[in-house]
Amino acid sequence: KKRQRPVIAIDGPAGAGKSTLAAHLARRFGFLNLETGAMYRALALKAIDNDYSFDEEAPLMDLAAHTRITLEPQLEGNRVLLDGRDVSRRIRETDVTNAASKVSIHPQLRAWMVHQQRLLGEAGGVVMEGRDIGTAVFPDAEVKIFLDAAPEVRGNRRYRQAAPGSNTAEPTDRQNYGRQAPDPVSAEQQRLTEEAVLRELKDRDYRDRNRAESPLRPAADAVILDSTSMTLDEVLNQAEEIVRTHLKA
Ligand code: DC
Repeated sequence: KKRQRPVIAIDGPAGAGKSTLAAHLARRFGFLNLETGAMYRALALKAIDNDYSFDEEAPLMDLAAHTRITLEPQLEGNRVLLDGRDVSRRIRETDVTNAASKVSIHPQLRAWMVHQQRLLGEAGGVVMEGRDIGTAVFPDAEVKIFLDAAPEVRGNRRYRQAAPGSNTAEPTDRQNYGRQAPDPVSAEQQRLTEEAVLRELKDRDYRDRNRAESPLRPAADAVILDSTSMTLDEVLNQAEEIVRTHLKA
């Protein structure tokens, strides 16, 4: 094995808390934190800006060939540059979120992403977070965690992260499990919005889990952590324990 330092792979569905966990582990162990979802999002944004269809692979591959996506790991996540432009915030908005899920079904496009992600992580000393890290990008990762949670819990966390009236369905920094629901809306309105968030999340889940090319699933040797009825601290502590155990072995 040529790499000197380990790779920690964090996979799981949207809203399970992967980003928070990956950022925490990276800090704890002094690793770089790489959010692969941001790369799919950045390309999806470029497709939106240039009026490309999300459904046609060949033009998207052409677009990718002329695209430079840079992840700059920071303490609380990644700064994302698309052809040199900072798109860190823009790529968290709802239209990009849905487009990313659609462009990521294409096999050649995935191969292009996987290739870049291997280059980014080949030296090791990274926590890499996504959907297929343990199964496709680094099948030989030293530690693999699959972070899961019931859809209703993930939907509710996502809903509470979104500020009232904002177009952002994704956390822009540390994922906050405990933030209050946006308040100046009626209970009925709130229920409808939360339902919409859950519906979108389930659509994304369905696409992620049922695509032909490396669908979302735990690697055979992944440790599955179900955070449905765990607090954030419990998740972070258990994951830390898992990493320590595996790195000792
Ligand atoms: O993790 P995220 O929500 O930022 O990911 C955005 C989309 O990108 C998600 O719907 C699925 C796709 N994705 C993927 O297919 N493989 C990855 N390793 C990371 C993300």
